[in-house]
Amino acid sequence: MSEPVRLSIEGSVARIVIDNPPVNATALAVRQGLVSALEAAIAAGVARIVLTGAGRTFVAGADAREFDAPPQPPLLADVVERIEQSPVPVVAALNGAALGGGLEIALACRLRLAAPGIAVGLPEVTLGLVPGAGGTQRLPRLTGLAAALSLIAEGRTIDAAQAERLGIVDAVVSDPAEAARTHPIPARPATGALPPPAADNAAVEAARAQARRRMAGQNAPPEAIALVDAAAHFPFSEGLARERATFFALRNSDQAAALRHVFFAERAALARTRQPGGPDIASAIVVGGGTMGAAIAYALAGAGITVTLVESDAAGTARARDNIGRLYAEAVSRGRTSAAAAEADCAARFTFRTGYDGLPPADIAIEAVFEDLAVKRQVFAALAAALPQTTILATNTSFLDVNRIAEGLPAPARFLGLHFFSPAHIMKLLEVIRGRDTAPETLAAALRLAGRLKKIPVLAGVCDGFIGNRILTRYRQTCDVMLLAGALPAGVDAAMRGFGMAMGPYEVQDLSGLDIAYANRKRLGWRTRTDIRYVAIADRIVEETGRLGRKTGAGWYDYAGGRATPSATVEAIVAEESARAGIVRRPFAAGEIVARATAAMIAEGFAILEDGIAERAADIDLVLVHGYGFPRWRGGPMHDAARGGLAAFLARLEALAAEDPLTFSVPGLLRRLVAEGRSPDEI
Ligand code: COA
Ligand code: NAD
Repeated sequence: MSEPVRLSIEGSVARIVIDNPPVNATALAVRQGLVSALEAAIAAGVARIVLTGAGRTFVAGADAREFDAPPQPPLLADVVERIEQSPVPVVAALNGAALGGGLEIALACRLRLAAPGIAVGLPEVTLGLVPGAGGTQRLPRLTGLAAALSLIAEGRTIDAAQAERLGIVDAVVSDPAEAARTHPIPARPATGALPPPAADNAAVEAARAQARRRMAGQNAPPEAIALVDAAAHFPFSEGLARERATFFALRNSDQAAALRHVFFAERAALARTRQPGGPDIASAIVVGGGTMGAAIAYALAGAGITVTLVESDAAGTARARDNIGRLYAEAVSRGRTSAAAAEADCAARFTFRTGYDGLPPADIAIEAVFEDLAVKRQVFAALAAALPQTTILATNTSFLDVNRIAEGLPAPARFLGLHFFSPAHIMKLLEVIRGRDTAPETLAAALRLAGRLKKIPVLAGVCDGFIGNRILTRYRQTCDVMLLAGALPAGVDAAMRGFGMAMGPYEVQDLSGLDIAYANRKRLGWRTRTDIRYVAIADRIVEETGRLGRKTGAGWYDYAGGRATPSATVEAIVAEESARAGIVRRPFAAGEIVARATAAMIAEGFAILEDGIAERAADIDLVLVHGYGFPRWRGGPMHDAARGGLAAFLARLEALAAEDPLTFSVPGLLRRLVAEGRSPDEI
């Protein structure tokens, strides 16, 4: 194995190369290596020291894997301090991404040269941290307060050209390591010795408001804002001391652990998109050009795939064409493309067809027609007859049994589910459903396609609702049981938003439409089932009032004047159902609502793992975070349960199950894990 930090001296220039694959993170060996290399270079009497990275990155930041253990000296903050204090000027040659600690190293150098297009930023808040090696104090001295706030508090990454405009890098050059040997060193003091940035209360207030809006519930952004603000009010050394104290407090926080968990879960999911096997997808057929089909087709086209969009009649085809036109128009209005380019792209990528006659061959056909088993089977029979047996066939069903949809197909090994989330061209999550006969090559090809679509794929087995909708169903059912017992929709929604969910369960239903879940309950015969606690409230709202959500102007809430307000109609139905069940309604505090709702999600998650529907607990977390608005900074339900102690969760769930065995049950897997002292991540 090569040394993580290498020093070479050529004439009067020393070159220090950080070589710690895959991303040159500042692990302990790198920090140690930097200190020794710096000292050796200074002792050799060189005139300048060039610091660069091997491979595609300069330095991507701290090694996030080290954060689970206590810090080991030398700390990066101290290494950075030595670089800044070096009697020999150190020049940063940013060959690739300079993120987090990587940028902090560069900020302490006397000159920063960057290769074109590289990423620069301080994304620590996205991992629940603040920069810990001077970033909050040095960056504002270079850029002023407003730009530093926007970069540090939002964890935004910019490219080299923007970094040059902001004064973060001195020049963008094609070969920074070579240019760094001779490029003149500016006659300015070290960054830490520059005058403090001017105070800017308006920018600080704006950043606080933005953080409350966009990163509600998270501890790191307000701390980051306070530290950047401190740069304008306190001496450099005091700013550094505050930064260090905050960094260490956050490093040990639950939020940082949760955000790290999601970060590594995402990396593991993305690794699946790089596996070989099956065809590379260059052409696709999408059947059904409604909400989902159009957005899926648009996403495929965006990845350079040619798409034939199929509807069953002329009116459907016209609607599909309009839907695609609207998606392009949206991109134009957001300034992502020009009207002319959009038109050319649409013409080059899309063909619209009515029926299956003369369908061109394609690498994949994705079905997104009505959620009806018979209709979907007809579609696949037609596709199988019209296409070669090499074409992968995929269904976008939300709930239906993928194996039953595939029955009778000549090549079921080529069949799978691809469960996109709405809006499909924006949402990052993709559930990849492995059917009974799905071949490994089919899965590999679909996973690579997910990578091209820039999705986060999660593998799931066949069951009603797969991972996400199965948990959603259980979650909603548990909330409905609370309505019956005394809660009201607005109270449940507020409690779940307070927990950090992007929206409450009833607000979401009003947005997506009450008819979808209604049809599902009907399909599953909930009304007559005795193994669940059936709550009739939602069915009565649909059947008796026709309130289907925002699209009908009323749902769980009234929308007179556009704003959601509690509905007397709904509250009357809720009260009637409580009375009918002989329940004396009682108040529900937000904490109890959250405890019950999350217990239901977590219990279902364990059942999903036990049934082999999900491969790993972290996948369930990814589904909830990316598909259902579960707060990322809680790490997903499975992480949340494990972090709070599985034994404690088991005890809570047992108590709930004892009180209401129809709503709560204890999966055997959870009992086994607690008995064995293992975490769900070890499965
Ligand atoms: N600590 C530890 N490991 C890291 C890491 C970090 N900060 N950043 C990336 N890695 C690992 C990944 O887990 C992955 O490992 P694997 O191959 O075992 O799965 C590997 O490095 C490659 O990362 P990947 O993201 O797949 O590569 P990429 O080329 O797509 O992206 C980066 C490279 C640097 C842009 C991206 O990894 C990134 O944004 N990293 C985080 C930067 C950050 O937040 N730094 C602040 C830390 S405080
Ligand atoms: P939609 O009603 O908006 O679109 C369905 C489209 O399919 C319509 O344009 C219709 O004309 C067309 N169609 C119907 N039968 C057809 C046939 N035999 N041949 C060709 N076209 C036909 O519905 P949607 O919301 O896009 O949902 C489609 C599928 O995606 C469903 O299975 C649904 O469960 C699933 N899904 C929906 C969402 C969502 O949030 N809407 C999310 C994930 C998955």
